[in-house]
Amino acid sequence: MRVMQNVSLGAHYAVRLPAPDDFAFWRERARGLIQCDVPPDRVSWIEPGGTGDLFAAEGPSRSDKRLPAPPADAPPVRASKAFLTAARRAALHTDPARFGLLYEVLWQLQRNPRLMEDKANIQVRRIEELAKSVRRDAHKMHAFVRFREVAVEDGTPHFVAWFEPDHHIVRTEAAFFMRRFANMRWSILTPRGTIHWDGQVMHEGPPARREDAPGDDPVEDLWRSYYASIFNPARLKVGAMLSEMPKKYWKNLPEAALIPQLIAGAQAREAAMVAAGEREERVRPATLAQVAQGAAACRDCAIADCGTRAVAGEGPSQAALMIVGEQPGDQEDLAGRVFVGPAGQLLDQHLTRAGIDRSAAYVTNAVKHFKFVWKGKHRLHQSPVAKEIDTCRWWLEAERAIVQPRIVLALGASAARGMLGRTVSVSKARGAPIMLDDGAELWVTVHPSYLLRLDGEAQAQQAALFAADLAAVQARVAQIGV
Ligand code: URA
Repeated sequence: MRVMQNVSLGAHYAVRLPAPDDFAFWRERARGLIQCDVPPDRVSWIEPGGTGDLFAAEGPSRSDKRLPAPPADAPPVRASKAFLTAARRAALHTDPARFGLLYEVLWQLQRNPRLMEDKANIQVRRIEELAKSVRRDAHKMHAFVRFREVAVEDGTPHFVAWFEPDHHIVRTEAAFFMRRFANMRWSILTPRGTIHWDGQVMHEGPPARREDAPGDDPVEDLWRSYYASIFNPARLKVGAMLSEMPKKYWKNLPEAALIPQLIAGAQAREAAMVAAGEREERVRPATLAQVAQGAAACRDCAIADCGTRAVAGEGPSQAALMIVGEQPGDQEDLAGRVFVGPAGQLLDQHLTRAGIDRSAAYVTNAVKHFKFVWKGKHRLHQSPVAKEIDTCRWWLEAERAIVQPRIVLALGASAARGMLGRTVSVSKARGAPIMLDDGAELWVTVHPSYLLRLDGEAQAQQAALFAADLAAVQARVAQIGV
């Protein structure tokens, strides 16, 4: 029998958490207490600002000396994966009893490792409820954070959003926004804390007030017009809409101001749509930052829910040459940058050999999200279908209208379709420019990933043709003098 030398019989322990969302700290302390056989009714868990048990032996910080030290021969603590997954989320809930509840269940798991499977157990059910409510809060944050552009001294746009989460989710959700808006400088202000991304490093700050965030500005107008244009009266289901976009979030959403009038006008608009076969009219973004933000929020096709983020185009907003690929690949999706994976590296080599300066070109894709299927642990690229390219074309057109390139190089059939709105055969179209409506020249060639799929003689032949296409584009760029 193990002797718990460090545990005072009948003592009550209080553990002070350094932060209300510090699951790792809770887990470390809970393990130690379990190994010392301290039952749940002899532990209080106190969050910052919370009150504790005045008679308890307190654990004030990470270097807490008063909690008992586990004996060297203590058995490992058992915690099922199901428990840890649910507990990690439930710990972010605002219920002050959550850490005690988690300890109680962890305690029971030592005797009954399959406890989490018992869906009738009231404590298991409560943990799952807490986890669900935190998940829902995170989902709302992903959907309803709206950035407003603010002017900053060095002229680089900075985007600021105000959001009121129900739970302590701000720090854990920072990674989502970092991935999704990797190329933007942004801040999310909340009454529970603030996070700031400068394009490279995430910073945390103290809680903010609504007044600290900017109010109405032109970016909001853009959101409103965008929302009004994607609002499809034929699909209006008020109940579903309210459950997806609960009224309490409306006050922070510029587009929400439109909801009552949109609902009111829905029937009339539907009739008009049916009658006129109306095509949606949208207000075009005026800046590349607005394109990036709009594409990130776009849900016009199913691909948008596929990857990690929309990958925005990159390069000077007045570039003479625009290079269009198909869609971001696995690595582009993760990095949030166009053409950084294997196809991008091959493209870079060919551009350099042809004398084309990639940094002077605006580089983008016909489709802004990564379409893939899971194969084991790998995400396998899937080509976008014509309808998806056509849907995303709106963003490509917006980019072209802003950048106004004199020459566009389309890499592959999807890029060519994105530019023209119709399918062309690459082998027939390559070698001579196609005149676009604004007088710009469209040059079509193969996609570099096509070369990656070949080998031997076939690869050498196609690489030579690709190099010749790029050389022709470079000659044209030099000739036009741009
Ligand atoms: N392929 C593309 O078409 N675009 C990228 O950004 C990467 C790979």
